[in-house]
Amino acid sequence: MTKKLRVAVLFGGRSGEHDVSLMSARSVVSVLDSNRYEVVQVGITLEGNWLTGANALAAFEKGETGHLDRVIPPTDPASRQSLHVLRETKMGEKFETLASVDVFFPVLHGPFGEDGTIQGLFEMADVAYVGAGVAGSSVGMDKGIFKDVMRANDIPIVDSLLVLRGDIENNLDEVIQKAEALGGYPLFTKPANLGSSVGISKCNHRSDLAEGLMEAARYDRRIIIEHGVRDVREIEVSVLGNENPRASVCGEILPSREFYSYESKYIDGTSGLLIPAPLPDDVSNQIRAYAIRAYQAIDCAGMARADFFVEKETYKIYLNELNTIPGFTSISMYPKLWQASGLPYAQLVDRLIDLALERKAQRDRTERRRTA
Ligand SMILES: Nc1ncnc2c1ncn2[C@@H]1O[C@H](COP(=O)(O)OP(=O)(O)O)[C@@H](O)[C@H]1O
Ligand SMILES: [Mg+2]
Repeated sequence: MTKKLRVAVLFGGRSGEHDVSLMSARSVVSVLDSNRYEVVQVGITLEGNWLTGANALAAFEKGETGHLDRVIPPTDPASRQSLHVLRETKMGEKFETLASVDVFFPVLHGPFGEDGTIQGLFEMADVAYVGAGVAGSSVGMDKGIFKDVMRANDIPIVDSLLVLRGDIENNLDEVIQKAEALGGYPLFTKPANLGSSVGISKCNHRSDLAEGLMEAARYDRRIIIEHGVRDVREIEVSVLGNENPRASVCGEILPSREFYSYESKYIDGTSGLLIPAPLPDDVSNQIRAYAIRAYQAIDCAGMARADFFVEKETYKIYLNELNTIPGFTSISMYPKLWQASGLPYAQLVDRLIDLALERKAQRDRTERRRTA
């Protein structure tokens, strides 16, 4: 009998997508094959505390986490990938060390989970983890830097402008003038580093624009203003792999509101998915090729979902963003696109764990110091 791999599934987290993460993690935990894996459930609270216990996920779902043990996150390679657990005993608090974890699986969306911060911690501790590394995660999260990298790689994106909160506060007229030079309304205003459509506005007139800018500036000090694509179709592709990534078939989102807003994503729950997206073959192949190029351009690993805008009449393609930890419930777009491409959910999860180990092996080969 081969030894089981111990997989720490991380969920919750400090971002606005805490609850979405619990749903994604529920699906992941339910398919991890107990013959192959021993699962350690680690929840991160909205305050950032790491907690564990046999049914930590259920406790987070119920909002009753008081009985869980505290976990001290791994920080240095000498900890040999161990999690230290702080237990309350009759004698007071006491540390115990959980045997080593083979792979960390962050099922965390948004800031502090998908943006390179926790990935930095994994790198410090020298542990294997699922998904993109520090640079891929943070560039994927930062709409401003992401666009610059896409421009440098000749991947088509919409015209946009980055402004600072201070510019909006001190030179609003000038910001409006520059924004209008992008080509007229509608314009979208977005915080550079967030997700889930939080803080995003569609501005149809000058009067909306000032409001949209101020709304976005609540969530970030860097704000993106984007030319709005008219008659837009939203097409998504799943990418999987490390050095030789593959792209799935394309899927289409049918938003239930004027755009794929927070309400449309999580409140109405009525936005539809169309798989495969009805597109001419040459268009979908072009989209899949751009998805792979973008993935490689930001040095992604493991997985990402590439989101595109396509103009209805002209089929003009624009890459919108890469999500390095996309929604991952069994009915989410990322796994459904793989399902439709011949890779069922459970096998997808196995593959992501293999890719994490493969990447760790690559890292272990890399010399970090000059040797004689
Ligand atoms: N330039 C644009 N043109 C048309 N629609 C847009 C544009 N930018 C954003 N949208 C709409 O807003 C939604 C959310 O924007 P997005 O940049 O994907 O933010 P998030 O990272 O929060 O998902 C998109 O799915 C789309 O419906
Ligand atoms: Mg999006």
